[in-house]
Amino acid sequence: MWNRVEQTAREVFGTFGFGEIRPPIFEPTELFARAVGGETDIVSKEMYSFQDARGDLQEMREMIRNLVLPVVNETWTHASLDLLQKFQSRLGEAMRTGEVRQDEEDRRYYEYFSQGIAHYHLVLSGGIESNKLEIERTFRLLKLAAAGITLGPSVSLRPEATASVCRAYIENGMHAWPQPVKLYYMGPMFRRERPQKGRYRQFYQIGAEVLEMVPPNQDPAKNIGKDAAVDAEVIEMVMAFFGRLGLEGVKLEINSIGDRECRPKYVELLRAELMKVKDKLGPDSQRRIETNPLRVLDSKLESEQGIIAGLPRIADHLCGNCAGQYAEVKRQLGMRGVAYAENWRLVRGLDYYMRTTFEITARGLGSQNAVCGGGRYDGLVELLGGPPTKGIGFAIGEDRLILSLQEAGKGGVAQGRDVFVAWMGENAQATAIAAAQKLRAAGFRVELPPVEQKFRKALDQANRLGARYALILGDDEIATGQWTVKTLADGSQTKMSEAEFLEMLRKSL
Ligand code: HAM
Repeated sequence: MWNRVEQTAREVFGTFGFGEIRPPIFEPTELFARAVGGETDIVSKEMYSFQDARGDLQEMREMIRNLVLPVVNETWTHASLDLLQKFQSRLGEAMRTGEVRQDEEDRRYYEYFSQGIAHYHLVLSGGIESNKLEIERTFRLLKLAAAGITLGPSVSLRPEATASVCRAYIENGMHAWPQPVKLYYMGPMFRRERPQKGRYRQFYQIGAEVLEMVPPNQDPAKNIGKDAAVDAEVIEMVMAFFGRLGLEGVKLEINSIGDRECRPKYVELLRAELMKVKDKLGPDSQRRIETNPLRVLDSKLESEQGIIAGLPRIADHLCGNCAGQYAEVKRQLGMRGVAYAENWRLVRGLDYYMRTTFEITARGLGSQNAVCGGGRYDGLVELLGGPPTKGIGFAIGEDRLILSLQEAGKGGVAQGRDVFVAWMGENAQATAIAAAQKLRAAGFRVELPPVEQKFRKALDQANRLGARYALILGDDEIATGQWTVKTLADGSQTKMSEAEFLEMLRKSL
């Protein structure tokens, strides 16, 4: 199933001129913080991040971390003090020479750590037996302070891949390639979420991005029609892919969330309106009035739905260019025969979007029913240090896509076989092996049982595997060179030579 889905994606995306890119599984945390946004749920709560630290400092810190407090006695306290002091002096030196880069927070932790050691000294000098509790407490604080210091750059398992594709566009000078650059990717993404049906901490996405450098002095208004056609074609491509797979209950929702000019004004208006009804909102939405009022529109809370329905809608506050582009996207989708519904509350949870946003849902998925999300992100490449560049793309949740196909009974027989070779007797095994080798070399899918089976049992298994033909090889067949071939669909049976069998297979499959 996974193979079929991925193979189909390659075929369909290939027909639209996309090539594959394989971004790395982890990247500097900073990349995601900048691209996706430090305030978003994805970056602030859901990333798996770690310090890429190594060397003696990291080793010492690990040893401190692993020191447990089983018995506080003379030997233990001296050994721990020794290790803590070594770490402190080595770290102090590394900070002075710039070997490890420190920010304000790191320096504070270092300060706590140094004060902690001074205190530890003092407590130990008062005698161990009478100070056991204080020794333990100080030691725990020292561990915490050590853990807080950054010893290496922070890296994160990728929560999504658009940021990486933009980074790759910049690093590989893709702006000098024929534009636009059309890329697709597939692979695992990681988000710290509460797992449930259709929501996992490691999940798979199939995504695509179209990137195009903006030539200097280009009048943005002039390109509205072109951008809209690109948006519509990208959406058309996902829909064609879902159509090819036979995905059921597919619903496409679209929206425009404006640009740098009109969105901030709308957000202020929305914030002001939300302030008026603040007391009637739940705690999450109340918080979002400050941090990101647009996300209030995402709320699923029953009690908030009536209030949200009365809020100002962005479609009424788009600037001329954004309104023009949105109208053109809808016209273009119409020309391509792509059915859609408008959803003014579709804002998406990543900061890089502007103008066109869209989401696609499918049947059989319960509450996690979004199988695809995407949108336009002009300016993201520039934000990451590249030239002014336009971008539009999407990502499909592959796990959810497969769940939906399976729920609809489109999982299909595991693999199917062209030929099941049923053999009996030692002579027959040699012929069966040779036959299987020839058939496989010719590209047919062949099942060759490792041990002989009674013919009835073999035919049962062939049926269960969904084989088209059973090739029956027993003493008779070997002696006469006339093989028995059974067509499993109708149970008919004929005899033929090896050459005739190969010829028949070639014609019928
Ligand atoms: P996203 O909406 O965060 O967008 O994710 C896209 C899709 O990935 C979702 O619609 C869903 O099907 C799937 N997905 C997300 N989280 C999970 C999870 N925890 N478990 C299973 N499936 C999940 C993005 O990631 C953007 N990078 C899409 C994009 C590309 N926009 C422009 N270009």
